[in-house]
Amino acid sequence: MEKVYILGRREKIDGGVLHIGRYYALDGSLGSKVYIDGLKPHVVLICGKRGYGKSYTMGTFIEEMALLEEDIRKNLGIVIIDTLGIFWTLFYPNERQEKLLKRWGLKPKNFDIKIFSSEENVMEYKKKGISAERFLIKTSELDIYHWSQLFNLPLMSHISAIIGKAISELKEDFSIDDIIEYIKKNEKINEETKMVAENFLYMAKNWKIFDKKGMPINEIVKRGEITVLDISPYPEELKIVIVAIIARKIFEARVKERKKQEEAVMKKIEVDMDIPLTWLAIDEAHVFLPLEDCLTKDILIKQWMRQGRQPGVSLILATQRPSSLDPEVLSHSDIIICHRLTAQEDIEALNRVRPTYMHGEIKESLKKLGTEKGVALIIDDTSEAVHIIKIRPRLSWHGGEEPSALPN
Ligand SMILES: Nc1ncnc2c1ncn2[C@@H]1O[C@H](COP(=O)(O)OP(=O)(O)OP(=O)(O)O)[C@@H](O)[C@H]1O
Ligand SMILES: [Mg+2]
Repeated sequence: MEKVYILGRREKIDGGVLHIGRYYALDGSLGSKVYIDGLKPHVVLICGKRGYGKSYTMGTFIEEMALLEEDIRKNLGIVIIDTLGIFWTLFYPNERQEKLLKRWGLKPKNFDIKIFSSEENVMEYKKKGISAERFLIKTSELDIYHWSQLFNLPLMSHISAIIGKAISELKEDFSIDDIIEYIKKNEKINEETKMVAENFLYMAKNWKIFDKKGMPINEIVKRGEITVLDISPYPEELKIVIVAIIARKIFEARVKERKKQEEAVMKKIEVDMDIPLTWLAIDEAHVFLPLEDCLTKDILIKQWMRQGRQPGVSLILATQRPSSLDPEVLSHSDIIICHRLTAQEDIEALNRVRPTYMHGEIKESLKKLGTEKGVALIIDDTSEAVHIIKIRPRLSWHGGEEPSALPN
């Protein structure tokens, strides 16, 4: 029997593997299957220039998680941060590439998903028969850093201070209207400042996302399920706040869950798992993990990447621009999947973290990829190996296809 290597896995265990593609020979022929570990926490980074398969690869990865054996899958939860509104198509089979799938011995298939998004989007998704619900955040979960980020205000600004004071004095479950009310009544604030603060708060209210109660995190992360947070309708400042809050809540919930499970093992009892091991998939990751200061970096780098192994949280990130990512992201990624990349600064960014086991420059390896879409260099820290692979075709419809002006 041919020897099977599982990228990202140390132990010799069978099962729980993600079949993401095949080895790719320089003449374009395909070799044996490539597997990635789906049991342990990882940080997977997908990069490459525009249109060479990043979002597509992310989709393939997610499909593979959904195809895991039932007893493994039920211990995992997948949350997709969908900044462009392209992942709802997981709900449809990939009939567009049926012939290609056939060549791989595969068939189109659709996947069950649950989407959270804006009121308007929810209506659209429901019309398509997709399970969808409004996405809500508990107003009191925003601290002063979130509010300043939301309105693009310096933390030390007047308005930030006023909102900070209001939220520290209001009781647990409050709405934006309660904050406005508090500010209106406060006689120490001059009218002009009040008006500016109120304007900002009305703007936030119009996003219809902040709510007295919000939604519990176990609605978003569910055992064996794929959740798509379609945050495409919102401005970038709000996207950052959403990801910061959701990522923090998942992390905290997983820390608690881990304790609970550990105690159960000690006491030799069985307890139900509420929050499963979680994979957070973030396309356009440079928005949340830039070189500059950013709220989401505190959670995603300091918690998810530095400490994520213990609570069991994993990331799958995609970006066009590895050079505009915080360098720590590259050094924490234990699996890097790099599609065609030509910009000098991006290649250099990868070169800086180039592992010692990689002989020669990354530039030379990248040249071998050629221009075929879906071909990638995969750098696996666990096996300390580098391979050229072709990502398998998507079973479900890929929603990131470039629109074309040609008539259908
Ligand atoms: N593994 C693959 N097999 C077959 N076709 C692929 C594969 N990967 C990508 N493609 C094709 O390439 C197109 C572009 O891929 P994708 O949308 O993932 O690009 P991207 O790298 O995310 O680009 P952008 O930076 O613009 O988001 C897809 O619509 C698909 O037709
Ligand atoms: Mg993309």
